[in-house]
Amino acid sequence: MRLKGKTAIITGVGAGIGEAIALRFAEEGAHLVLNDIQENAGEKTRDKVEKLGAKAALVVADISQESGARSIAAAAMQAFGAIDILVNNAADFTSKSVENAEPADWQKVLGVNIIGTAMVSKFAIEHMKARGGAIVNMASMSSIIAQRDFATYNASKGGILTMTKCMALDLAQHKIRVNSICPGCIFTSASVREIERMGLTFEQWRDKVAPMHMLGRLGEPREVANAALFLASDEASFITAAHLVVDGGYTAW
Ligand SMILES: NC(=O)c1ccc[n+]([C@@H]2O[C@H](COP(=O)([O-])OP(=O)(O)OC[C@H]3O[C@@H](n4cnc5c(N)ncnc54)[C@H](O)[C@@H]3O)[C@@H](O)[C@H]2O)c1
Repeated sequence: MRLKGKTAIITGVGAGIGEAIALRFAEEGAHLVLNDIQENAGEKTRDKVEKLGAKAALVVADISQESGARSIAAAAMQAFGAIDILVNNAADFTSKSVENAEPADWQKVLGVNIIGTAMVSKFAIEHMKARGGAIVNMASMSSIIAQRDFATYNASKGGILTMTKCMALDLAQHKIRVNSICPGCIFTSASVREIERMGLTFEQWRDKVAPMHMLGRLGEPREVANAALFLASDEASFITAAHLVVDGGYTAW
């Protein structure tokens, strides 16, 4: 068990990649502090990890609000008395070109993806400094490439890559490693919303998107969760300020 006895905070666990990370970490023995803005979705994931034998606390909170971000670290300390791992996974998916985006669109996407990630980290770091640990920020292949009509989302995800490197530099002295993951297209509830937005059927969308990956298919949430587990575990003890691309080759050709 690679995370036995460790306490891990994971944001955005109510669906998709966050849920898969919660399940994967539970299998590896972690105590879990689960966050989502949606109560029902968060409760479903909490029930699933508890069935795997993990101890879990659920914090229903919006990470873009300072009080919400603060409540996550506070709940972790109350439930388990320590924080070893933080996975900043929750995200807003507002995707518009610069031409079409209003200030409210930028505020929404940057409020969750940049400010929310930063605030959850800020309040967790206070407690992680005591014994070191690992932070994993969910970036995206969208952090490193252009995609049509995606300027708002891609700018936020590009910011996560650079923020990760700055965090790694600032926190190295406290033995906290900070890395990010850049997934390709992973089929989740976010994909379902994107398919609806594009007015396509699932099959039409899959046949368009899958061949863009060298491996010729979409990724699965568990494949990203495995990368998060590696970066959060002691197996990645000399890795910090890095981004791990988990995109089936999408960005390399
Ligand atoms: N799905 C993909 O193809 C893909 C690709 C690259 C990167 N990512 C990244 O992976 C992460 C997870 O994506 P997903 O596809 O699983 O998304 P998803 O929409 O399926 O799930 C995200 C979860 O986060 C929660 N959430 C949203 N805003 C929140 C907030 N303000 N506070 C707390 N919780 C909030 C939602 O309620 C939801 O349960 C995101 O950071 C996303 O940018 C996803």
